[in-house]
Amino acid sequence: MSRSETAIPKNAGTPPAPDGGSDVFKIESLTMAYGDYVVMRDLDFSVKRGEIFFIIGGSGCGKSTLLRHMIGLAKPAAGRILYRGEDFSGATEERRLEILREFGILYQGGALWSSMTLSENIALPLTEFSGISERAAAEIADLKLALVGLNGFGGFYPSEISGGMAKRAGLARAIALDPLVLFFDEPSAGLDPVSSHRLDRLILQMRDSLGATVVVVSHELASIFAIADRAVFLDAKSKTQGAIGSPRELLERGPKDVRVFLNRGVDPLENKDAYEK
Ligand SMILES: Nc1ncnc2c1ncn2[C@@H]1O[C@H](COP(=O)(O)OP(=O)(O)O)[C@@H](O)[C@H]1O
Ligand SMILES: [Mg+2]
Repeated sequence: MSRSETAIPKNAGTPPAPDGGSDVFKIESLTMAYGDYVVMRDLDFSVKRGEIFFIIGGSGCGKSTLLRHMIGLAKPAAGRILYRGEDFSGATEERRLEILREFGILYQGGALWSSMTLSENIALPLTEFSGISERAAAEIADLKLALVGLNGFGGFYPSEISGGMAKRAGLARAIALDPLVLFFDEPSAGLDPVSSHRLDRLILQMRDSLGATVVVVSHELASIFAIADRAVFLDAKSKTQGAIGSPRELLERGPKDVRVFLNRGVDPLENKDAYEK
């Protein structure tokens, strides 16, 4: 018998991975509500390790609310959220804070502290959460600023830089603690197309260099098609997920509402003739 025949297959008898395997997030029958007002119900999807996953849908459909649930700032009305195989939504406050340190978050406003320089903005979470010296934190801050194309801007105040630069500084702060998961809420809101495109490229780069999983809330079609591996469409009409898949799949084979959303209000299938003429 040759060596290869006697060799035990690498995965034989391997118990299920304790960290949820390739699923970083698993959303199970999730219903989200503010009091009695149900925003979305029966959400079921997973986010795979290393992917760039988009949450898409029209204004007010519940995208930011879903993000708040995924980072543990809101509790499910029903269902649960697993983070790396662990019931995150049912975790203790202490455990939730521990998990939160594995997340980097760039909020919709992306607000930097206006009274601090960019370098200080980024150094703060470092000294606060990792207990390193201020000097070491300042060095890491400069490194992170360089990563987002802001080399030499550490001494600037937020009021002295453009909106696009502020977004990138916010990103540098979000990656200060080398997160496993990066969350973005409408990262390109208010940015011109060039800054927006630059931010998209940075998000891709962050995923590749940090090996992070990225969750993006957006209705920016250019970004969706440029960098999303997969997307879940939240359908405001039915108050549940309309479809999940790659942007191409959703545009070509998704339900009508999703196709219309991804094609600026026009169903690409129904108007096929018009295109071909
Ligand atoms: N704190 C809140 N209290 C009550 N209702 C809210 C609150 N935040 C958002 N909503 C409502 O929940 C729905 C979803 O909001 P949101 O998640 O912000 O949507 P999106 O991010 O997709 O624009 C909206 O109808 C909004 O008015
Ligand atoms: Mg929102």
